[in-house]
Amino acid sequence: MKFEHKMRGNVSLGVNPIGCKQEVKNQINYVKEQGSYEGPKKVLIIGASSSYGLATRISLAFGAGADTIGVSFEKGPKSEKNLGTAGWYNNIYFKQAAEAEGLVAKNFVQDAFSHETKQDVINYIKNELKDKIDLVVYSLASGIRIDPDTGERINSVIKSIDQTVVGPNVNIQKQEFYEQVLEPATEKEIADTVNVMGGEDWLLWMEALKEADVLAEGAQTVNYSYLGSDLNKPYYGDGTLGQAKADCEVKAAKIDDLLTDINGRATIVVATAVTTKASSVIPFFPVYCMGLYRVMEDNGTHETPIMHQDRIYRDMLYGDKPEYDEKGRLRPDNWELDPEVQSATEALIKKINGDNFNSDLTGYGIFMKEYMNLSGFDVDGYEEEDITIEDLLALEY
Ligand code: NAI
Repeated sequence: MKFEHKMRGNVSLGVNPIGCKQEVKNQINYVKEQGSYEGPKKVLIIGASSSYGLATRISLAFGAGADTIGVSFEKGPKSEKNLGTAGWYNNIYFKQAAEAEGLVAKNFVQDAFSHETKQDVINYIKNELKDKIDLVVYSLASGIRIDPDTGERINSVIKSIDQTVVGPNVNIQKQEFYEQVLEPATEKEIADTVNVMGGEDWLLWMEALKEADVLAEGAQTVNYSYLGSDLNKPYYGDGTLGQAKADCEVKAAKIDDLLTDINGRATIVVATAVTTKASSVIPFFPVYCMGLYRVMEDNGTHETPIMHQDRIYRDMLYGDKPEYDEKGRLRPDNWELDPEVQSATEALIKKINGDNFNSDLTGYGIFMKEYMNLSGFDVDGYEEEDITIEDLLALEY
């Protein structure tokens, strides 16, 4: 069977399941090369199937020997023309590799926003895992939330607030560099984005887990944020997503209170900009990444999700090099926000145009390789395998 990469704008549609298997393996190997570290032993990851959530899971399982429960929303294969999503295969191949090393790896492929999913996970922890959870990672990114009480469908939008933003972007499918105009969000769009991408569902998860008494003494919970810099503030930090991230900080304080009696803690981890399914569709962001990656790669500080997450858990959250800011947020993004990195990125972005955006002047090649890797294409060490649709349909998650 041949696997074909397809795109609609900056959304990747095709998938190579064998490439996903190799990509998961490469990430596992990266973690193993760093050696083992002391960390949590029972971990729940909400949004576990790709990018930051998957990298978190791989680091904790293969670096700290953690048993993991992963919640994600992915589609399995139906036919040769409809192979499902990369995250579906990431879940399966992660599970196979973890189980081969004697670790528990349970996958829930269902809507994390629903009450049912929370209850299913709690039942599993009580009846099958039979141990308490010592880390809950919230790494969900979604454009839609179905309200768990009313069934209403709420959409998040990535827009600016109170200002029209004009700047360069790249249409990856058409290989086109163009000027994008981003109109500001309405009040309803802002509120809806906070509803979907803010901290409400994180708080609901933590309340349900606490209420069910499945959190261990000293349990921690983590939520990934992005603050960015002046270069992306107009459309991110000062935009709808920035509002949603601010809401996560409000909810972190509530969760901290909730966990006081078990000496637990909620931490906002401000993570660095990386190429993911979610970030490739943020307006202007691909061009920011192309500038930033060139500068950081040349400095030797560019990180992929697995490098970043492994550093967060190994060195910072469970290590001896944590760096917190005055608001108590963990700041592994300080390599990205280094003033010299930012000014070099700004200078480079000013030079990017339609003739050179995909040349070595920029980090285009780095961005594109990482973008293709997300769907199992262009993966290092990839070898073709003779595989049929029946083989794929028989895979169990
Ligand atoms: P992603 O799109 O690669 O992964 C999102 C995950 O959420 C997937 O596992 C997906 O299956 C799951 N998911 C989505 N809707 C779901 C639902 N209804 N039920 C269950 N699972 C669902 O996203 P990415 O980029 O890894 O983002 C994760 C978090 O990291 C987000 O909060 C994002 O804002 C944050 N972050 C991302 C940065 C970036 O540059 N990509 C930078 C800093 C923070």
